Amino acid sequence: MDDLYIHGIPSTLPEPEAALLRTRLLRAVSEARNETGDTEIGILISSASTPPVASAPGRTDEPDVEERAARYRVMTPLWRLEQLVVPAELHEELATAIDLIHLEPLVFDTWGLRDIEPFPRSALNFHGPPGTGKTLAAHAIANRLGKPLLAASYADIESKFHGDGPKNVEALFHAAKRDESVLFLDEADSLLSKRLTNVTQGSEQAINSMRSQILICLERHQGVVIFATNLVNNYDEAFETRVRHLYFPLPDHAAREAIWQRHLPERLPLTDDVSAHALAAATEGFCGRDIKNTVVDAALQVARTGKERVAFMDFQAAITRLITAREHVRGMKEIGLEPAEKERIEGVLAASFTNTEP
Ligand SMILES: Nc1ncnc2c1ncn2[C@@H]1O[C@H](COP(=O)(O)OP(=O)(O)O)[C@@H](O)[C@H]1O
Ligand SMILES: [Mg+2]
Repeated sequence: MDDLYIHGIPSTLPEPEAALLRTRLLRAVSEARNETGDTEIGILISSASTPPVASAPGRTDEPDVEERAARYRVMTPLWRLEQLVVPAELHEELATAIDLIHLEPLVFDTWGLRDIEPFPRSALNFHGPPGTGKTLAAHAIANRLGKPLLAASYADIESKFHGDGPKNVEALFHAAKRDESVLFLDEADSLLSKRLTNVTQGSEQAINSMRSQILICLERHQGVVIFATNLVNNYDEAFETRVRHLYFPLPDHAAREAIWQRHLPERLPLTDDVSAHALAAATEGFCGRDIKNTVVDAALQVARTGKERVAFMDFQAAITRLITAREHVRGMKEIGLEPAEKERIEGVLAASFTNTEP
């Protein structure tokens, strides 16, 4: 069966009303699916005045959901909760989230609450600046739950064919269920935010239809779903009601000190002047990822020069290199680079500055 395609929502309609309209349409379809058990009903909603190009031309051998799902593979979680340094309240919130997930079978199945709430929600959204431990936390939760992690980012589900994005979303949720895994949707910014800027109408349509599909899949999915976003301040209303937001801040001095401690393995030979306290003081404004990158950079440089121990000045040099690389990026941003491009370059720089001559 073809998806319902609703288009032509006027762009003059104020966003809150448009969002409400989208949400109600999505709910209607979602309810129809639940009541009839007919999972074929799909919906695409768009503000475009013309329908999108139909699925890829000439394809008669459309892969079904299982075939598509074969693309998505789970992994063993790489990190544990003990490795995560976050404010006490956030730690508490994460622990609560894990407890709630553990209690779901008792409360909803044994105690029968599924009769009144067939879709208990375990969806979380980790938001905050890059490099603050969101990915680490997703792994840690899966690890604590004793489940594998199915990690996917926007790029893994988008498709150049209209209509394929939503099918990939469905396949992704299918794969998550298949392997009883924790589903981690990274870089979910564009999927969770209300308004889209700087996109052509075509890609706006594509994102909107993926977003709709995610909502439908979230409704039906029994399992843990974690989203991660950098700062989104404009969440789609429909997500607001389904997702619990947990904020990952940049680390303060005490948190940086603890992160430094966790990033200096016992076997790493250090001179006596190295202390996590002093390193925390020297890295104001650093995120956890910056600290990790600095440790790797300093250790590699020391190893290359044949020295036996990493001294405070080696860390200091790596800190300076990271700050310099960042200022370089900032300069490029001032000449008009898009934030996404900036972040990409920053990533390349962070990965490569260990290989350049000092
Ligand atoms: N809060 C934190 N506690 C401990 N280590 C951290 C933290 N934040 C970042 N790190 C370090 O930086 C690495 C990258 O962090 P990541 O979880 O990928 O950040 P995000 O997903 O928020 O961009 C982690 O694997 C870890 O080594
Ligand atoms: Mg991440």
